Amino acid sequence: MDEVVVGLDLGTSKVCCVIAARGQDGRLAVVGVGKAKSEGVRAGVIVNIRAAVKSIQSAIEAAETSGWEVKEVIAGLGGGTIEGMNSRGVVAVSGQKEIRAEDVERVLDAAKARTIPMDREILHVLPQEYIVDDARKIKNPVEMMGIRLEAEIHIVTATTAVSHNLIQSINAAGVGVSEVVLNALSSAQAVLSREEKEVGVLLIEIGAGTTNAVLFFEGAPHFSKVYQFGSERVTKDVAQVLQIPDEEAERLKIKSGCAWVEGLVEDTEVIIRGVGSRPTYTLQRSQIARIIQARMEEILSMVAKDATRTGLIPQLGAGIVFTGGGAHLEGLPELAKSVFGKPGRMGVPMGLAGLDETWQRPEYSSVVGLALWGEDRLPDVAVAGLDAEGPRATGRAAPLRKSRSPSKLWEFIKKNFI
Ligand SMILES: Nc1ncnc2c1ncn2[C@@H]1O[C@H](COP(=O)(O)OP(=O)(O)OP(=O)(O)O)[C@@H](O)[C@H]1O
Ligand SMILES: [Mg+2]
Repeated sequence: MDEVVVGLDLGTSKVCCVIAARGQDGRLAVVGVGKAKSEGVRAGVIVNIRAAVKSIQSAIEAAETSGWEVKEVIAGLGGGTIEGMNSRGVVAVSGQKEIRAEDVERVLDAAKARTIPMDREILHVLPQEYIVDDARKIKNPVEMMGIRLEAEIHIVTATTAVSHNLIQSINAAGVGVSEVVLNALSSAQAVLSREEKEVGVLLIEIGAGTTNAVLFFEGAPHFSKVYQFGSERVTKDVAQVLQIPDEEAERLKIKSGCAWVEGLVEDTEVIIRGVGSRPTYTLQRSQIARIIQARMEEILSMVAKDATRTGLIPQLGAGIVFTGGGAHLEGLPELAKSVFGKPGRMGVPMGLAGLDETWQRPEYSSVVGLALWGEDRLPDVAVAGLDAEGPRATGRAAPLRKSRSPSKLWEFIKKNFI
C-alpha cells in the first residue's frame, strides 16, 4: 500500500477524519478513523480558531492510532455563504478543428469569467455539458471535430475568510490541506450512485448547524446551496415549546422524534424528565412530532423554493436523498413526498472498503466522500485532468500530495528534503 488519502470534516457538532489507502488490489480501503467533539464551530463556520485546532488535532490523533501518519488532508467545507450558480462559455476551436485539452481549458475559463465579489472565491467549477457546434450533451469533447465549443458549468463560490480560517486551523494543527471540497459534493460521492445522478436527484445533508443541498441531473450539479441552520434548530424548538433544557430536547428528538405526524401508527406516551422543582410528566409523541414537523417542513420548503428555479424538480427520477445526522429523523421521506412531490430515502456512505459498520451512518457521508474524492485524484486514475466521464475541473485542481505511512523512505525524505 502506498497511495493514501485523508478526509477531514469539521462539522458543527463533531470533527472526523478518515485515512484510506489503496491496497495491492488497487482498491481504496479505510485504514484509520478518528472522531472528536467539535469546539469553536458555529453553523459550520469556525468562530474560535484555538478551540477548532484542538478538536482537529484530537480527531487526527485518534485516526493516527491506526499507525498511519496524517500529513495532508482533503477538507470539507459546509458553512458560510456558499452558493452555486450556472454559467456558460463559448470559444472558437483553435488549430486543426480537432478539440484539444487546451480548448476545453479555455472554454471553462470563459464560462467562469464572471464577476465574483472580492470577499468570495471559486471553490468548484463543475462541467454540466459541452456543446460542439450544434451537438449537445457531450461529456468529453476532446478529439472531436468542431468549430465552436460551448461549456455549461456549475460554479460554487464560498466566502474567502471562511475557507481561509478552515485551512489556517488545519495547518495550525500541523497538517497540510490539498483541497477544500463542498460538503454536499463529497457526501454525494459517498451516498449517490452514478445512475441516481444521471436520472436526477436532490441530496439534502442535514447537519447540526447547517443544511447543504445539491441537485444532480444528467450526471452534473445544477443547484447547490448551504443554509445556516440544521437539526440543532429542531432541538431548540422542542426545548422552547416544551420549556425543557436543550439536552432533554435533544434526547427526545433522537429517541422519539418524527417529522411526519400522520405517519405515527400508534400515538405512544413519551416521558419528559423533570427539571428542578418540575416533576417528570408525559406527553403524546404526536405533540413532539408536530413541533418537529413544523420546523422540518420550513427547512425543506426553503430548499424546494430555491431548487425549483432549476425547473428540474418534477424530473428528478431518483427523488430526494437525505444524509447528515439529521437524516435519522423518522418520517423525513414522507415529508419529502409532501413538500417536493417526490419520494425520499436516507443515504449512508458506501463505496469505501473496510469502513466499520459503526461508520456506515449518514453523519459520516461527508468525511467518507472526501476520501473517495481524493481517490479520483490519485495519479493513475486522473490522466491530465481527464477521465472517462470527461474533463473534471475544480477551483483547486492542484495534484494531491499524499499522506504517507511512517516508513524508512518517508523518514529519509523528511530528513533530507523537507
Ligand atoms: N436519530 C436522530 N434523529 C434526529 N436527529 C439526529 C439523530 N441522530 C443525530 N441527529 C442530529 O444530527 C445532528 C448532527 O449531524 P452531523 O453529525 O451530520 O452534524 P455536523 O456535521 O456536526 O454539523 P454540520 O454539518 O451542520 O456542520 C445533531 O443535531 C443531532 O441532533
Ligand atoms: Mg456535517
